[in-house]
Amino acid sequence: MCGIVGYTGYREAYPVVIKGLKRLEYRGYDSAGVALLNGGLKVYKKQGRVAELEEFIVGKDLHSHIGIGHTRWATHGEPSDRNAHPHTSAKGKLAMIHNGIIENYAQIKKELLNKGYLFTSDTDTEVLLNFIEDIKVNNECNLEEAVRIALKRISGAYCILLIDESDPETIIAARKGSPLVIGVGKGEHFLGSDASPMLEYTKEVVYVNDYELAIVRPDELILKNLGNEKITPFVTKLDMELAAIEKGGYDHFMLKEIFEQPSSIHDCLRGRLDASAGTITMSGIEQNIEAFKSASRIIIVACGTSWHAGLVAEYIIEELCRIPVEVEYASEFRYRNPVVNKGDIIIAISQSGETADTLVAIERAKEQGAIIFGIVNAVGSSIARISNGGAYTHAGPEIGVASTKAFTGQLAVLTMMALKIAKKKSSITDERYTQLLFELEAVPEKVDALLKNAGKIKAIAEKYKDATDALFLGRGYNFPIALEGALKLKEISYIHAEGYPAAEMKHGPIALVTDTLPVVFVATKDSYHEKIVSNIQEIKARKGLVIAIITEGDEVIAALANDVFFVPPADEMIAPMLSCVPLQLLSYYMGITRGVDVDKPRNLAKSVTVE
Ligand code: F6R
Repeated sequence: MCGIVGYTGYREAYPVVIKGLKRLEYRGYDSAGVALLNGGLKVYKKQGRVAELEEFIVGKDLHSHIGIGHTRWATHGEPSDRNAHPHTSAKGKLAMIHNGIIENYAQIKKELLNKGYLFTSDTDTEVLLNFIEDIKVNNECNLEEAVRIALKRISGAYCILLIDESDPETIIAARKGSPLVIGVGKGEHFLGSDASPMLEYTKEVVYVNDYELAIVRPDELILKNLGNEKITPFVTKLDMELAAIEKGGYDHFMLKEIFEQPSSIHDCLRGRLDASAGTITMSGIEQNIEAFKSASRIIIVACGTSWHAGLVAEYIIEELCRIPVEVEYASEFRYRNPVVNKGDIIIAISQSGETADTLVAIERAKEQGAIIFGIVNAVGSSIARISNGGAYTHAGPEIGVASTKAFTGQLAVLTMMALKIAKKKSSITDERYTQLLFELEAVPEKVDALLKNAGKIKAIAEKYKDATDALFLGRGYNFPIALEGALKLKEISYIHAEGYPAAEMKHGPIALVTDTLPVVFVATKDSYHEKIVSNIQEIKARKGLVIAIITEGDEVIAALANDVFFVPPADEMIAPMLSCVPLQLLSYYMGITRGVDVDKPRNLAKSVTVE
């Protein structure tokens, strides 16, 4: 959601900025723009894709050694050229880009209107920019000081980058709630919403914290807090290669990421799980093991796909650890004055580590004395940094908007966690523990095996591509996978889809069943098998079209279903890591056959940094 890029140094800024914006396209956006400084400010912006901005810019004067660029996901004001960023201040001396929402912008706008300011856009960003310029002019201070004063007056979330005609080498940046990474080069600095825009230039980065302000020049990076005190920048070495953020021969990032799962799950387990030795090494858990052992409950907070991973974890943790688990939508949890007791453990699950609702939910819970445990994919992200402990999913950068490999990474981490805690609590038998360790270790190989049959799912997708609705049903550990399958299908193919526990079908959704409705059953062999066979019969009796994800050798369901996809046998607790993969493929191929831009589906953002 909104991508931010900046550069100051000896290179031409425009190619660095525009390439950076392309790297951030995955975040989701509807307009793009750049601001350069060469004599005066040059601002170019356009509704639509970065490619359209590039076309528009052909032939323009692009020479500059400083630049800022932005991809905007509309919040205040429709997607349009005039609402696109960068915005230029009323006096034309400053340009600014912004990710986030200024909540009290209306009040500030009123004050500025009374002073005679005119606005050319509907955005909260232009209001903040003119507010900063007003302070700079009236206080006769420099831009840094004006930004500091302005930020103390505003509420909301922001990552802002500003350039000033009168100081042509300096970018002023600040953040609260929206991410900012600064890449440190020799005689140059790079700024980005994440590290992808700077990856080929430097591996040394500084993750800027909330309420910090950065003064960035080619040879200098100064970090300060809003009280004007200097902070020593903490330089981190990036452990990421350029290939990880490129398509590597696949048509789409989503497909690449689905096919990466054998290796991403392996990377997640590597160095942690050793089935032969009977060990799971997770330092984050070990450091907090007493808290986990004595926890009277665990609350999982997350959004979207990560929330579905939380639901699977609820089943696994309750079964293995006998600790009550509640799974909460972060957006509801943060606002409903929940009961959080000292010593409660909150597990926050997030691929991006920047989801605004999840971030604020855990900040509040932390204030109330809860222990925050983060399960995050993006290294160095905000949720990872504010958690008391945690475990990375190590799935590598996920660029496709739909979460795929991060989800299986979350399931792998959560299962290892549950096993580790159960072992320490002695709430699992040695036999079951060892069996599950070996089951977990075998997952990458099994995912690899089922991916070899992706063509079968492609054929199913082509057969059902004209469907207008779909139902996804599952029971037990596969119930959250049914929800996840429905979410994937709607976001990637725009087909209306609903997920339900299979037995709930009779309490309403069965009214939808006709001879044109595809009903996807996630029905791998487990303790619910007989029950779900009955549910399939009920759909068949009403002429529904059954697509079943089942275990190899399951002839009972194979004989009932219209179409089947087989996955290798696995313990019911482990099966979700397999059964979700054909559903990812189904949504991908459905999206492709229906002409959807699957990596950037409409209205969606990869990193939801506004609430
Ligand atoms: C769906 C999807 C979203 C995210 C949700 C949370 O494919 O990707 O539903 O899961 O926006 O994002 P994170 O995990 O980054 O907190």
